[in-house]
Amino acid sequence: MVEADHTDALNPATLARIRQMRDLYPSPRSAVLPALWAIQDELAYLPAWSLEVVATELGLLAGDVEAVSSFYSMYFNHQPGRHQIQVCRNVSCGLRGSDELLRHLENWLGVEDGGTTTDGAFTLEGTVECLGACGGAPMMQVDRFSYENLNPERAEEVLTKIRNSEPRDLD
Ligand code: FES
Repeated sequence: MVEADHTDALNPATLARIRQMRDLYPSPRSAVLPALWAIQDELAYLPAWSLEVVATELGLLAGDVEAVSSFYSMYFNHQPGRHQIQVCRNVSCGLRGSDELLRHLENWLGVEDGGTTTDGAFTLEGTVECLGACGGAPMMQVDRFSYENLNPERAEEVLTKIRNSEPRDLD
């Protein structure tokens, strides 16, 4: 069986970025994370075929790439809204009210964990482990930005501002 070649589905600049990363490291395996970022930056998530592209470009098995992409909560395997919200629920945040914060956001946004708001603005990727900002617990990450010392009102303020703003440059 001949597998479909999806490299044409990506922007040439994305492919160039993946190849640049591959050539940067002594072992192509080291380029898996930046290669996944390159695709997610273009498509906003990682469709199954994109993992095969990364595997082919880096000379790895698709299963190896899939194992990495599914391990990290920062990679998405489904089409998200324009912004992704991740509420940390690990120990420090849990002790400081992250469960209540998550429940509040589910009600306020009208979605359950993993859902996308009807206007497409937010996907609530609620259940993630420590995001490395324990000193500011409870916290959430929206796209690649952290918001700390949250309460429901502060979280609403942050999300309202983001909802009303243009897409952000993530670089
Ligand atoms: Fe929430 Fe570490 S426990 S950021």
